[in-house]
Amino acid sequence: MNKITLRSPATTANVGPGYDIFAMALKEPYDEITLFLNDSEKIEICVSGDCCYIPTNTEDNTAGLAVLELFKRKKIQQGVKIEINKKMPSCGGLGTTGASAAAAIYGLNKLLNLNLSSNELIDISRMGEVASGGSPHADNVAASIMGGFVLVKSYHPIDVLKLDIPEFPIVLAAIKKSQRTTRGFITYEIGQEKLKEQMAHCASVIHALHTKDILEFGKAINVDHIAEPVRGASIPEYYEIKKKVLDAGAFGCTISGGGSSVIAFCSKENQEKIAQMFEKGFASNPHYIKTIRSFTSNQGVHEI
Ligand code: HSE
Repeated sequence: MNKITLRSPATTANVGPGYDIFAMALKEPYDEITLFLNDSEKIEICVSGDCCYIPTNTEDNTAGLAVLELFKRKKIQQGVKIEINKKMPSCGGLGTTGASAAAAIYGLNKLLNLNLSSNELIDISRMGEVASGGSPHADNVAASIMGGFVLVKSYHPIDVLKLDIPEFPIVLAAIKKSQRTTRGFITYEIGQEKLKEQMAHCASVIHALHTKDILEFGKAINVDHIAEPVRGASIPEYYEIKKKVLDAGAFGCTISGGGSSVIAFCSKENQEKIAQMFEKGFASNPHYIKTIRSFTSNQGVHEI
């Protein structure tokens, strides 16, 4: 086999209090990635679809950088062409960069019969994220590879736990970032009280997933003292709209991954109402792209 086409899901990282350690896969949107092996010993990248600002130089592209890492670690000399068909908006917070890296490594693992474990796939794929935000965070690529809800239990070495989850309805306002990354402004110096609350909310997220309690889950993701203060401040309408959708019955609302996208979890009956509130609320934001109605999903990257 020298060709494989894969579908790689969007992911929402952090899931409230779990900065860099929690993420969930979404049913839609997704990207499609095709890999072709060849004898050139070169890595070639082509991007089509919603491809504004996506570099095709190997070192600057998340999939390209991840493949370089794979070839270096496993001492592989191989030519590969990577066709990335972007079917999701290229904006912050959908894990789109991680989806490409995850698909490239997952696909090469199959094509080259490498038999890598999920943790190895994640550890190599996350290196691609350096091309996007400058940091090899594992949450997005882990959810793209494994699907469901992922908990990064350890970074040294990478050890990720997947929890299967119910299909939660979600509404996501896709909003472009006004700056490349806000990670540098995030601090862990949040004080004892907030730290205790943050840990308690992380524990509540996991408990709510085990008990399939969407109300508890929503309450738990509403609090984040680490990333939300920085990223919330860069989305002018964020806190006002969060309050409005929670008042209207959404279970939880938080910033999706690195922002500026915003995600809400709600009942199926409320999904359209919450979506319309996002559409109206974010309409005047010049970086707003569109509102996506979708579900969480247990399916990670897969061959199509
Ligand atoms: N955990 C990462 C961050 C996810 O918050 O920067 C980026 O999508």
